Amino acid sequence: MSKKWWKESVIYQIYPRSFKDSNGDGIGDIKGVIQGLDYLKRLGINIIWLSPVYESPNDDNGYDISNYRAIMKEFGTMEDFDLLLKEAHKRDIKIVMDLVVNHTSDEHQWFKESRKSKDNKYRDYYIWRNGKNGQPPNDWISFFSGSAWEYDKTTEMYYLHLFSKKQADLNWENAEVRKEVFDMMKWWLDKGIDGFRMDVISLIAKDIDIDDEKDSKVVMPNIPNINNERVHKFLQEMNREVLSKYDIMTVGETPGVDPQEALNFVGNDRNELNMIFQFEHVGIGDGPDGKWGKSEFNLKEFKDIMSKWQDVLENGGWNSLYLSNHDQPRSVSRFGNDTEYREESAKMLATCIHMMKGTPYVYQGEELGMTNVKFDSLDDYRDIETINAYKEYVESGKKTKEEMMEAIYKRGRDNARTPFQWDDSENAGFTEGTPWIRVNPNYKTINAKSQLDDENSVFNYYRKLIELRKKYEIIAYGKYKLILDDDKNIYAYLRKLNNETLLVMCNFSDKNSKFTLPEDIKYNKKEVLISNYNVNCDEIEKIDLKPYEARVYLLIDR
Ligand code: NOJ
Repeated sequence: MSKKWWKESVIYQIYPRSFKDSNGDGIGDIKGVIQGLDYLKRLGINIIWLSPVYESPNDDNGYDISNYRAIMKEFGTMEDFDLLLKEAHKRDIKIVMDLVVNHTSDEHQWFKESRKSKDNKYRDYYIWRNGKNGQPPNDWISFFSGSAWEYDKTTEMYYLHLFSKKQADLNWENAEVRKEVFDMMKWWLDKGIDGFRMDVISLIAKDIDIDDEKDSKVVMPNIPNINNERVHKFLQEMNREVLSKYDIMTVGETPGVDPQEALNFVGNDRNELNMIFQFEHVGIGDGPDGKWGKSEFNLKEFKDIMSKWQDVLENGGWNSLYLSNHDQPRSVSRFGNDTEYREESAKMLATCIHMMKGTPYVYQGEELGMTNVKFDSLDDYRDIETINAYKEYVESGKKTKEEMMEAIYKRGRDNARTPFQWDDSENAGFTEGTPWIRVNPNYKTINAKSQLDDENSVFNYYRKLIELRKKYEIIAYGKYKLILDDDKNIYAYLRKLNNETLLVMCNFSDKNSKFTLPEDIKYNKKEVLISNYNVNCDEIEKIDLKPYEARVYLLIDR
């Protein structure tokens, strides 16, 4: 068991646009993040993952970068950033930056040059191909609807964009591109940042000129030919040139990667990354229409997926644990019950995730039990993926307007992007101006201010969970074991370290559910570490768990 600071940490993701606006322009900013540091300190997290703050025309809210070494105007200045880093470090909070290098904005200087002529110095920084009979070079589909290729008049060729057409894919086969990226990473690390979250890093190597679909281990239906071998070659080079020289943490966002392939990214002997974000559990219920289908949650599948990841990465890897982020709906709405049992289920879900083996990620507002939102009109939505998908499905007649709005209510990314709910004043205390996206109308009841001093709040439950991790080594390092595998309502598991066992039970149902302790669990001392109802510790052999009840026991066998 190799101990590392990032294995013992809890990471808090900030989506700066929606966190806190300090200057009344309706857009969250870096000074706003600084204002929030004491709140985060109180919560107890020790790492911030900051979604992109770089210069960007904001086609995809900063995931389209036009200058990697400058700060987006709406967010402030480089001085603001330096101050944030200093203020965070002063509070023992580390800062991990988002690294978005699968693509740049089409307004990046490199792309502006690249599109000028076929012999421009920057031409090969991007992926250009000729069309085929007036059609795009192949049938790859963008994650944001339509062809992944855009025709460019100037040189009469197409460039690849796996995301929007303003997000042109960089050509990682070009050594100069890799050098530029590595230099830029060093520039930030030398400033003192503490690591990177790497955007869609599993997709950086593509086999475009192969007609047959290759046997790719990164399974993406819309872009079948991801070259696994070269992804790893590039990451090993990045590790050699950059990462290995600093005491930092890295987490790669890796859509399409299964646990076996994950070991190639994070295996101890691989010299690539520390952790990855897997997508299997957030894809439960996806159908032919992907996330826009009916998507029903199924606990059995969830348990199977989470346990598979726990078990495989036990052999030399490390998990990242998350239920929500800026691309996913709110976890309490998706996996819990955001009406009658909102608080209970938010706490239960947090227990389930935070007690697993790996590093937990809290997405801003999750610690308050913030919920999904339902805006009546598409005009109130801002997310490019949502807007494009609406057009695609409704205009083609594949879905009615009502069906598509229902799908957006369930899975749209703006669910996670409504402003952080600080208090019950106008606009939830997020801004004194007009927010760039409407606030969730439930801010009067769900907000930080009302929870801070309430011992039973969701916020204080998260605070306790985070505190426990610091106190009990078994939470970071104990070995995971699923129990009651077939139970349809209860997710129960053990963690084991030396003579200690952590017993975690989570009722995912809005009904009472009966828990029976397996007979082979031996202990002679027990203690409740945390629970979301008042618990009588004496009975643990048979328990009638209440709706969304969660309990964690520490069992000691002397
Ligand atoms: C994944 C990011 O999390 C998402 O927000 C973004 O739209 C795409 N990558 C493209 O950068």
